Amino acid sequence: MRRVAILGATGSIGRQALDIVDANDDLEVCALASGSSELEELASERGVEHAQVGGDLTPLLDLSEPDIVLNAIVGFAGLPATLWALERGITLALANKESLVAAGDLALQARERGGGLLLPVDSEHSAVFQCLEGRTEESVDSIVLTASGGPFRGRTREQLADVTRADALAHPTWRMGPKITVDSATLANKGLELIEAHFLFGLPYERIEVVVHPTSVVHAIVRFRDGASLAHLGYPDMHVPISYALTYPERAATPVDGLDFADGLTLQFEPPDVETFPMLALARRAGESAGTHPCAYNAANEVAVAAFLAGRLPFLGIAAAVEDVLAAVDGAPAHDLDELVEADTEARRLAEEAVGAPVP
Ligand SMILES: NC(=O)c1ccc[n+]([C@@H]2O[C@H](COP(=O)([O-])OP(=O)(O)OC[C@H]3O[C@@H](n4cnc5c(N)ncnc54)[C@H](OP(=O)(O)O)[C@@H]3O)[C@@H](O)[C@H]2O)c1
Repeated sequence: MRRVAILGATGSIGRQALDIVDANDDLEVCALASGSSELEELASERGVEHAQVGGDLTPLLDLSEPDIVLNAIVGFAGLPATLWALERGITLALANKESLVAAGDLALQARERGGGLLLPVDSEHSAVFQCLEGRTEESVDSIVLTASGGPFRGRTREQLADVTRADALAHPTWRMGPKITVDSATLANKGLELIEAHFLFGLPYERIEVVVHPTSVVHAIVRFRDGASLAHLGYPDMHVPISYALTYPERAATPVDGLDFADGLTLQFEPPDVETFPMLALARRAGESAGTHPCAYNAANEVAVAAFLAGRLPFLGIAAAVEDVLAAVDGAPAHDLDELVEADTEARRLAEEAVGAPVP
């Protein structure tokens, strides 16, 4: 029996993770956490003793003794749980990409000390992880992350000037929480995933490509040095990568259908439009600049997306604010968590300033 702590249990990933646990006899929930939603009903239904709303989750993790931490908290708030699991060598099923983006170096050092498994839940990274299994580092040429392109694919900047929150939340292929859905519309989600991939798979940025693939059937591709490419395909449904991480390496059955070729499959690819959607290029630049630049990118994006969702910032203002913040921070590397939190706080302060200012 594997004990799973589900953090962010009331969210899109958290609820799908509960489906997976319910469908597997050898998984049980040992802890539940949310940000502000009540958990009493969820905890009592499942007889879970350890449940917590907000605050420092590390005492909850200590008490509940999980074998796996499924970190599905949204944003930088997920960082303590990521570090808690990595430091102790407890399997981390990571959906909370923001923590790895913001604290990649510290997280990898913690994983080195803890020696445990870090299993990506993000569908693209789960796909890359699976394509890489059993391969040598030298055999890998590059990886390709696919992006749906979001609801605004094909639009010009002029057409994006007055898009609304509702427009941005209408994702064509994935049903997700509001923050990641807006991130998909700006391509910041792919930017965060680019940096996440760099830390997860240890490849330099020039060997990680992003390609737009509107139907989201191909989740990622790995190119090998012999000219062959392996792709991971499946209908877009997060139950699959969540199940893969929670039941690794067994790959338990899920209710998700396999591909139906009789139904027709469209494998269309195109390069991302980085002029119209600058968040992807900004992420690449932040990642290549290293230090706390990725942390600043993430922090500024979180502030700007919250302002957009609250109706305080136009859609195009998100990238403008992030660009301003990246230009203003020094991006010096953080040697410990205190320094990282300092960099995050400073980037948030600058982003609040940028968001308050009139947007071009
Ligand atoms: N949804 C997807 O398909 C998908 C795919 C790939 C990766 N991800 C990643 O997975 C993470 C979660 O995404 P989501 O779509 O599931 O988001 P979501 O639906 O907005 O859910 C977020 C969850 O985090 C909880 N939370 C927020 N702040 C917290 C805090 N300080 N402490 C504890 N819990 C907190 C929320 O609790 P409340 O309900 O109380 O606010 C909620 O349970 C994100 O990092 C996202 O990028 C999601």
